[in-house]
Amino acid sequence: MKYAVVQLPGESSGAAKGAPPERPWLRHSACALLGLRPALAQHTALEHAAFRKWAADCMCIVEIGVAEGVSALALREEMAEDATLYLIDPFHLSRIPPLNFVKRVAQRTVNSSLRGKVVWIEKFSQDAARGWKESIDLILIDGDHAEASVERDWQDWSRFVRPGGAAIFHDARVFDNGWTTPNYGPVKLVDRLFRSGGAPGWTIAEEVHSLFVIQRNK
Ligand SMILES: C[S@@+](CC[C@H](N)C(=O)[O-])C[C@H]1O[C@@H](n2cnc3c(N)ncnc32)[C@H](O)[C@@H]1O
Repeated sequence: MKYAVVQLPGESSGAAKGAPPERPWLRHSACALLGLRPALAQHTALEHAAFRKWAADCMCIVEIGVAEGVSALALREEMAEDATLYLIDPFHLSRIPPLNFVKRVAQRTVNSSLRGKVVWIEKFSQDAARGWKESIDLILIDGDHAEASVERDWQDWSRFVRPGGAAIFHDARVFDNGWTTPNYGPVKLVDRLFRSGGAPGWTIAEEVHSLFVIQRNK
């Protein structure tokens, strides 16, 4: 198995969010590199399917927040054959930066597909936004989850999404048996920006578990 998605209470396969309770050390990314566990997604199977669906035939996709690369792989596997996938993550949380196991697992996960082209941008999203010029078909916002940071990602990046293109926020809604709460930064931002009054020129397109998808009007 290349990867495991988050298992919700009552589901029978997949991985718990965070560490497996009986063997917390397995959560360390070194264990994935050694083949002791698959790469861990931080999203559910339904969310994974939604990433794939929204990526279908896109030519330019940006992901903010890659972690072990499972959502990036979902996007890569479905994007157009000659598409480019930009992966933005500073991978700054490694305790031993030269080893950076999370980054190495991410690279291995994403490179298990050879579709299109992948550009790794090892920066914070706010730094990557500076000088950005390309029109974006799909952006997945799953980096820094503080409300102000999610809002900054929206302000920095949404203007590049082409008419008909979409932005996906992760961890942005409360759902049955899920891990999000009304106090999550992305939940608060989405409620404030899009549910009360809406964003002019954008339409809510889909909501799946913690995913909130908003599409730019044509
Ligand atoms: C929730 S995880 C991403 C999970 C992944 N998308 C998935 O579904 O499996 C968040 C990631 O965002 C990265 N991150 C944190 N702040 C960031 C920022 N300002 N810009 C880009 N990435 C950031 C972290 O390094 C971490 O890998």
